[in-house]
Amino acid sequence: MKAVGLYRYLPIDDAEALVDIEIPKPEATGRDLLVKVEAISVNPVDTKVRAPKDTVEKTPRVLGWDAAGTVVAAGPEVTLFEVGDPVFYAGSITRPGANSEFHLVEERIVGHKPASLDFTHAAALPLTAITAWEALFDRLGVSPQGADEGRTVLVFGGAGGVGSIGIQLAKQLGKLKVIATASRPESAKWARELGADHIVNHFGDLPAQMKEIGIEQVDYVLIFNDTDPNFPAAAQLIKPQGGICTIVENSAALPVDLLKAKSAAFHWEFMFTRSMFGTPDMIEQHKLLTEVARLVDAGTLRTTLGQHLGGINAENLRRAHRLLEQGRAIGKLVLTGF
Ligand SMILES: NC(=O)c1ccc[n+]([C@@H]2O[C@H](COP(=O)([O-])OP(=O)(O)OC[C@H]3O[C@@H](n4cnc5c(N)ncnc54)[C@H](OP(=O)(O)O)[C@@H]3O)[C@@H](O)[C@H]2O)c1
Repeated sequence: MKAVGLYRYLPIDDAEALVDIEIPKPEATGRDLLVKVEAISVNPVDTKVRAPKDTVEKTPRVLGWDAAGTVVAAGPEVTLFEVGDPVFYAGSITRPGANSEFHLVEERIVGHKPASLDFTHAAALPLTAITAWEALFDRLGVSPQGADEGRTVLVFGGAGGVGSIGIQLAKQLGKLKVIATASRPESAKWARELGADHIVNHFGDLPAQMKEIGIEQVDYVLIFNDTDPNFPAAAQLIKPQGGICTIVENSAALPVDLLKAKSAAFHWEFMFTRSMFGTPDMIEQHKLLTEVARLVDAGTLRTTLGQHLGGINAENLRRAHRLLEQGRAIGKLVLTGF
């Protein structure tokens, strides 16, 4: 089958950084689904895994942790899906990614695709929806039934892939007042269209901008980009007894002592935790994605597709990686069909 992979970890302008390859079609066992991949989206995790280093792979490494497609075979222990079901999912970072014509994924981390979206628009959602949902509702404990209505959340990176769905979840389900960060007119416009009540610029003086909009402190902070530079402002802007959740690794020690006087909570969210450790509640991601699909079909949530980059091949994927590495994506980058 066709796939896109790598043997060497190279800068993205090197034509060998991602290459078109032929690999054996896998077989479904246990609780695995074999999915015919119709569309994929690209995430910063792909660029982080691909980052230059000296390792050389003997068999090609396939990236890609966001897909929409059709179940074409199921392992003998599968109970949640049938052959022919349209699905969307992110998969597990401990297994090969989905940038291949056929792909194996464990059923407990797969959702039924929203019926109202084609594969392209559905592929934009899974990884980021799981991340933003778990950050907001599981880690920060915001009520997805709107019981925290009127409380405030500051979303760093409002127009990025995670921010684009995070704003919608906070606004539509959490009923929160959403302040999102964006640094350019086009990213600010996008974040507003998705439901942000206010926009502040993450490259400017945040406390001063918050004062200007009359919201000096917030109940929750979601750091969906660049933890290192954004953490001090988050610590300053969080209310006493509020909660901060970040999804991005820090490169220097974080000054968590800034939170002590306020008894503010600090959480990590890593959407691969459940599949990586095979936690007993792994099936929550199946339920979460199926609920996201229901909310999309009900018109409550919308796709976050920002740019369609054409067919699934090495050249288009290199383009996607290059765009993501610039750190200015708006919504999700999606590719369709081999
Ligand atoms: N832990 C997890 O499970 C998990 C899951 C998904 C993603 N992530 C990580 O989360 C990060 C964001 O992912 P993504 O898919 O949303 O990325 P993305 O789509 O590439 O994010 C692009 C956005 O980032 C904004 N941005 C750039 N610099 C920023 C800064 N200093 N502060 C705040 N926003 C900034 C840009 O806004 P402007 O153009 O307006 O400047 C742009 O719209 C990545 O590091 C990714 O690896 C973690």
